[in-house]
Amino acid sequence: MPSETSDVVFHDRMLSLGLARVTEAAAMASARLVGRGDERAADQAAVTAMRKQLNMLDIRGVVVIGEGERDDAPMLYIGEEVGSGSGPEVDIALDPLEGTTLAAKDMPNALTLIAMAPRGTLLHAPDVYMDKLAIGPGFPENLLSLEMSPAERVRTLAKARGCAPEDITVCVLERPRHRDMIAELRQTGAAIRLIPDGDVAAIIHCAESHVTGIDVYMGAGGAPEGVLAAAALKCMGGQMWGKLLFRDSDERERAANAGIADLNRIYSRDDMVTRDVILSATGVTDGSVVSGMKRQPGFLETETLLMRSKTGSVRRMSYRNPTG
Ligand code: FBP
Repeated sequence: MPSETSDVVFHDRMLSLGLARVTEAAAMASARLVGRGDERAADQAAVTAMRKQLNMLDIRGVVVIGEGERDDAPMLYIGEEVGSGSGPEVDIALDPLEGTTLAAKDMPNALTLIAMAPRGTLLHAPDVYMDKLAIGPGFPENLLSLEMSPAERVRTLAKARGCAPEDITVCVLERPRHRDMIAELRQTGAAIRLIPDGDVAAIIHCAESHVTGIDVYMGAGGAPEGVLAAAALKCMGGQMWGKLLFRDSDERERAANAGIADLNRIYSRDDMVTRDVILSATGVTDGSVVSGMKRQPGFLETETLLMRSKTGSVRRMSYRNPTG
């Protein structure tokens, strides 16, 4: 659970470039596996490269959102200490390959992702689902809520934007669990962009709706991905709400073990990421806000989104790496 920490020295400016190297390395390691139909191999390559690069940073990091519990994930598991062992104490949230299936099928919006924040300031979200709702910047605070019905959210957002519900595009993961919500949204006349995977990219897309055409994201996806998305919106601007969803007692126990006392809590963006955060995302496959890797004779080119919440700075950095 995030706790109030005071006067934490967090060299976010100095560390941000190092963080970009971490996601670049993970993406490049998976490059030869994009479109090869082997999700596990692509993920493993990204994990190994990310861990190696992360351990070169002068931090005392602990993975709070990672590849899974220690028993299930040999690398970058929750609780693993990462970094050189000297430097600031930080929480790390990562997803070495967000959208493994997208990468394996060479479909849009696969990313490598990492966020870093002062120790104790990122939500330790268990590996359960989270009901998510996100919009971009420029709207009154708490304009929408998870307590509103999906149709009410669309109508409220349309009113705030001064447009008709028909002019709103909602992004939703295409899953049977969303059938009723999609039917309700259709009644409003809103457009629905159904995506096969990758809700972190989808939520990032809300922050640049003029480019992506996505006004709002809603629906249930992974809780760990929810924290990464909240970190991205904290840097780019935008609002997000999340509520953990539990299917059985085992999932409730997992949450309790992660230190979550109130299982019904609705988390705002800033409840999930309570202090300054830096985030790096490198495109594995093409997306609307960050391009995928491009192979050219003799080199591989990546594009990385590097962001700091303290300054609201958003860099798009391209990197040419000779492949020999
Ligand atoms: P992976 O990269 O782990 O495959 O996650 C992809 C993803 O689509 C996430 O973006 C999303 O939060 C989650 O899976 C949804 O889970 P599910 O596929 O079980 O609906």
